[in-house]
Amino acid sequence: MNDELDAAIDQAAAVIAASRHVVALVGAGMSAESGIPTFRGKEGIWTKHGEPDLRDYDRFREDPKGWWEQRMKPSPAMNELAAALAEAVPNEGHFALKEMEDRGSLQAIITQNIDNMHQIAGSTNIIEIHGNRTKLRCTVCSNRWPLDEFPIDELPPSCPDCGGIVKGDTVMFGEPIPREVLDECIEQTARCDCMLLIGTSAVVYPAAQFPVDVLRAGGALIEINPEDTPLSNVSQLVIRAGSGTALPMILERLKEKGDS
Ligand code: APR
Repeated sequence: MNDELDAAIDQAAAVIAASRHVVALVGAGMSAESGIPTFRGKEGIWTKHGEPDLRDYDRFREDPKGWWEQRMKPSPAMNELAAALAEAVPNEGHFALKEMEDRGSLQAIITQNIDNMHQIAGSTNIIEIHGNRTKLRCTVCSNRWPLDEFPIDELPPSCPDCGGIVKGDTVMFGEPIPREVLDECIEQTARCDCMLLIGTSAVVYPAAQFPVDVLRAGGALIEINPEDTPLSNVSQLVIRAGSGTALPMILERLKEKGDS
């Protein structure tokens, strides 16, 4: 293993062990080693099929029934993503974050991913800023249900609690982040003195704002990404490796340090 990576892993473990409130900001790169394509970069879903339209959510609101009918006939981009998501299992990086949480070295995960991998890996304090593909959500009261526990016998489905229109929990382009989720992200960011930037290109807001807020409050950023991002040059530490490699190594160093 190369000395530069080894030194960066050592420093990252030292910063994490010395921090009070560590939050992981996770992006699609975290699940790349689970076979789920990222969005940007050379093999990215948006790179290949183009980004979705920012008016998607407006179209949904104008014609929710039509949106549901179309959801039954997904686009090539969504088909490719859905096929990868259906096959995916958590990788060593997901399990390392779960164990860091168990050991008190990680207090929360803010994930931009909708793939449910952190739940399957056993993490508990997970904030899904872009929703979860395995759930439905009421657009009025924000109640959520697992997909397989909500009988869809009318289009669009309506909320049994408030009558609101129900859609997939995944946040669409142009859709506001549900208020209670955004508030949780802001609260975690305010308490955070060390943010791990794992597998995110850090170009999509509001998620990309959280590391800036941590920096402004004097906190540390540790980037884990094989490529450069707009936050690389303001991160205290940059680990140029895949998260499936780097996170288990950081966990091992934390165990050696006996943090708990
Ligand atoms: N380990 C860590 N990082 C990786 C790995 C890996 N094995 N493989 C790729 N990456 C990095 C890439 O270098 C890139 O910086 O993961 C990042 C993925 O960036 P994006 O594809 O832009 O994904 P993300 O940052 O999650 O996008 C944010 O954009 O379209 C929306 O809703 C979508 O949640 C997504 C949001």
